[in-house]
Amino acid sequence: MGRKYFIKTFGCQMNFNDSERIRGILKTLGYEPTDDWKEADLILINTCTIREKPDQKVLSHLGEYRKIKEKNPKALIAVAGCLAQRAGWELVKKAPVIDIMFSSFNMHQLPELINQAQAGYKAVAILDEPPGDEDKVWEFPTERDNKYCAYVTVIKGCDKRCTYCVVPRTRGRERSRPLESIIDEVKRLVDDGVREIHLLGQNVTAWGKDLEKPLPFSELLYQVSKVAGVERIRFTTGHPRDLTDDIIDAMADIPQVCNALHLPVQSGSDRILALMDRGYTKEFYLGRIYRLREKVKDIALSTDIIVGFPTETEEDFGETLDVVRKVRYDQIFSFKFSPRPGTPAAEMDGQVPDEVKTERMARLLELQKGIMSEIARSYEGTVQEVLIEEAKDDGTFVGRTTTNRWVTVRGGGNILGKIVKVRITKASPFNLDGDLLEVVR
Ligand code: 5AD
Ligand code: SF4
Repeated sequence: MGRKYFIKTFGCQMNFNDSERIRGILKTLGYEPTDDWKEADLILINTCTIREKPDQKVLSHLGEYRKIKEKNPKALIAVAGCLAQRAGWELVKKAPVIDIMFSSFNMHQLPELINQAQAGYKAVAILDEPPGDEDKVWEFPTERDNKYCAYVTVIKGCDKRCTYCVVPRTRGRERSRPLESIIDEVKRLVDDGVREIHLLGQNVTAWGKDLEKPLPFSELLYQVSKVAGVERIRFTTGHPRDLTDDIIDAMADIPQVCNALHLPVQSGSDRILALMDRGYTKEFYLGRIYRLREKVKDIALSTDIIVGFPTETEEDFGETLDVVRKVRYDQIFSFKFSPRPGTPAAEMDGQVPDEVKTERMARLLELQKGIMSEIARSYEGTVQEVLIEEAKDDGTFVGRTTTNRWVTVRGGGNILGKIVKVRITKASPFNLDGDLLEVVR
């Protein structure tokens, strides 16, 4: 009987894509996936440490998964990802049940680490710096669940120094993946039936600057769009400072680039933005948004907002609400400020009490709720292009618009993986319903 692995992933899309790569590596080693950790020979947790909550979740999961060893003493427990990178041996001391530990720096070493652990050693490979041979990881295929939409990591790490953020510590400095390696993977994915390519990086708009022959991110968009079979392109996450005019022009110019952009603002207050070291003002940010709206018609925008950054006053928070009112985001991801060990903001005076964060967050969500239902309503009666990703048991299909909205589609035939025209009949903030009109391609 083959060996089985169980994988649990926390955190962002990049971590999710790392897990797809890890699954690909495990497949080449002869492991098969299982959804039941109790029958696994290898349990792997890909961790996140962006806020305190995901840290705690990992510890509680470890507490549960350790029971595997009672039934199967040879079973291995591996911890990967950002918490592993940040906490290192400290985490193994807290949870000695861990056999293997590595991070996004050295996923390609997983085969050796498994061998070491099987030989009875603690295989903890947490490096201070990304190793010189980390590009080897691209030689492994990914294992994906979504047949039609695929993530492609194009740049690792982050050179920005936002004072609240732990990521530069966990994912290192910016390393762009070479163009050829990206295009090779995109071609392979398209051959495999993929139609939508989602380019990923902590700071994706910085891609290309550190290459031997530097290239702008807009060039990457053009190159990916030229691969035959790529019908849609998305990218996450852009930084407002790096969203240069050439990128906005490329978004307007390339038909496959989707009508959606996630552009974290974090705060609307210039004073807080300076304390965060974001490198822009509210006016600069809004300037980018107005330019986008002018060039890319009907673009749907989403953002990240941190509520209760140290010293945030009612007036500062009011500026954030003002940005939300002006931009009218399709979606907002809001977080209470969470002090992360080793970051400057964690040490700042004027930490905001939790009740205040909770109360401000509630007001932000209330404002956003109204905006979202108004935007949703504006879809009713319109015709949208939808890429169908899934067939439901009740005969309906599910897919997304180019503005990244989920649509439940009535109407038959084999439309899986097709881009279809749909008339929207009903709209709620998180889902649209519609009738199939025709298959486009
Ligand atoms: N506290 C709260 N939110 C944070 N984020 C990053 N670091 C912190 C922190 N220390 C949020 C930011 C970022 C998103 C991924 O997580 O909004 O864009
Ligand atoms: Fe979490 Fe940030 Fe790491 Fe993503 S990069 S897994 S959000 S800590």
